[in-house]
Amino acid sequence: MGLANLNDVLKDAYASGYAVGAFNAINMEFVQAIVRAAEDLDAPVIVQISQAAIDYAGVEEISAVARAVAEKASVPVVIHLDHATRLDVVERAIRAGFTSVMFDGSSLPFEDNVKLTSTVVRMAHEAGATAEGEIGKVPSAAKRTWTWEELAELMTTPEEAQEFASRTGVDALAVSVGSVHKMKAQQAMVDSKRISEIKRVVGVPLVLHGSSGVTDESLREAVRSGIAKVNIATALSQDFLGAIRSQLAEDPSVSDARVVLHSARQAVASSVAEKIKLLGSARKAAAGAGRGKMETALKGGEAVEKRGMGTAKIGSRTPKEVAKPGSKNGFVEDEPVE
Ligand code: G3H
Ligand code: ZN
Repeated sequence: MGLANLNDVLKDAYASGYAVGAFNAINMEFVQAIVRAAEDLDAPVIVQISQAAIDYAGVEEISAVARAVAEKASVPVVIHLDHATRLDVVERAIRAGFTSVMFDGSSLPFEDNVKLTSTVVRMAHEAGATAEGEIGKVPSAAKRTWTWEELAELMTTPEEAQEFASRTGVDALAVSVGSVHKMKAQQAMVDSKRISEIKRVVGVPLVLHGSSGVTDESLREAVRSGIAKVNIATALSQDFLGAIRSQLAEDPSVSDARVVLHSARQAVASSVAEKIKLLGSARKAAAGAGRGKMETALKGGEAVEKRGMGTAKIGSRTPKEVAKPGSKNGFVEDEPVE
């Protein structure tokens, strides 16, 4: 099955009432762990790579790793850009072979968010990729805690969700319903009634961000109420680091880095498997198969997306020409979003 975009995997989830897990990856071990867990459970899956992860790893480098793993997968795998706030990053990700992108304009005034997200939707669709936007704000627990009253102020209203989705043409819509990014314990409950109300007026799959901190019961309820894509990053990072810590504690003299990375990869894979089961996407791989398997080919310096219904040009510049600006390809000084 291999490469897919959001529409390939979310349409059935939306129609049938389950959610597809969207798991953040920062390196090869994360990508392999996520795809391996999905294959073991015959589940469609979304590997997402944030703008911050691209700043860390390099867009072509991380895309090459993700695509190599996805292309061989026995299940549909979406390679999705997460939380992009810059159009140049969106453009470079699409050219590097991402099959889907998210533009996060949630900190912008409504009209600016509509304008920039619409541009991203156009860029994505021209390349045969899909686009997610966000309305309402999902905050971060990195520096402070949030009261329910404060969260309520940031939550998405059905009216703005309806207007935002219809004016931008997004394929999936991220909403703020009480979850908070970067929580290290599962303590949050989301507003399921609000999810149902938004679902009633928005015709595209809804996305829950900050899902690491949401309790299992509330996650199940959120999916029942209309969430079709569930984003998880922090929990996987904790599992990865936890495995490294215990491996090193067990044998502080270990000299082969693969020993610790192997344990870390296993830990991420079992955590992803648990989430897939919880979200109900196990054994749903076939539902997203064959509808729009994406193959990107480089032909005469042009990146061409070949899809079932014909071909669409991404552009006439080579990937190298567009990849030069911006990426620091090193450690970022400020704290990444994911
Ligand atoms: O976009 C990614 C997510 O919203 C992940 O949030 O790190 O709190 O699980 P999390
Ligand atoms: Zn997020």
